Amino acid sequence: MEIIKDSKEMQDKILILKKRNTSIGFVPTMGALHEGHLSLIKQAKKENEIVVVSIFVNPKQFGPNEDYSKYPRVHDQDISLCDKESVDFIFLPQESTFYDPDHLTYVEVENLSNLHCGKSRPGHFRGVTTVVAKLFNIVQPDRAYFGKKDFQQLIIIKKMVEDLSFPIEIIGCPIVRDFDGLALSSRNKYLTTEERKIALKISQTLFRAKESILKNENDSQVIYNKIYEELNSTEGIKIDYISIVDDKFLQPVNIITKNTVILIACFVGSTRLIDNLHCSDFLN
Ligand code: PAF
Repeated sequence: MEIIKDSKEMQDKILILKKRNTSIGFVPTMGALHEGHLSLIKQAKKENEIVVVSIFVNPKQFGPNEDYSKYPRVHDQDISLCDKESVDFIFLPQESTFYDPDHLTYVEVENLSNLHCGKSRPGHFRGVTTVVAKLFNIVQPDRAYFGKKDFQQLIIIKKMVEDLSFPIEIIGCPIVRDFDGLALSSRNKYLTTEERKIALKISQTLFRAKESILKNENDSQVIYNKIYEELNSTEGIKIDYISIVDDKFLQPVNIITKNTVILIACFVGSTRLIDNLHCSDFLN
């Protein structure tokens, strides 16, 4: 496994591989790797000859009062996890030099970036699409892998790739959950033992919503009310949003079908957690 810190060096290595028609799978991450990331890497390994994992805590996707400086940076641990998964290259740009001081160019997917998480985190998705576009130009993968836990991010990146004709297949991989249902996230590290117990409510309400939908409840208002009441009555949880939307443009729907996704964001203490339920996973 090679660790490359310089963008130009990474790009040059990739160009050599591309000349040999080697297929390249890419897993962009911000590090603090967990089983969710490892599932992306495993899928990338199955489908490509070479796998590149990037580790970069992207300052452009954090708001001024967000957790950029305290975001976990555990490079040694991440490197050894990648090594165990037989990753070929880790792209590990320096936070101070990855963006030129004169950087002026941003990529924004209009209308999708200002909804849901984008409403609570202005500028977040603009930062995500900008870094992902830059990483795509450096790594030039055939396939790139993203977790479905960040559902809105996945939809936005798919739209960017479609609209800007990146020759890359975007692959959304299933949410990986802890033994008790909590969706894995690098931010779970922030939770105290007590907060972690409280956070479980988020996935539990989604699982209950799934049961109701499977019993033929398809009125989104009914499902919304159930989720809202359960979360709102849980001490220690502050709802950021609950949205029941279509899985393409993320617009509210009245009737739940297999193309519906339920998106939730909540604060548990000062930690913001997201989770979702995509009805296509269990409806025909
Ligand atoms: O999902 C993430 O970890 C980040 O948003 C990403 C896609 C690596 C961009 O910084």
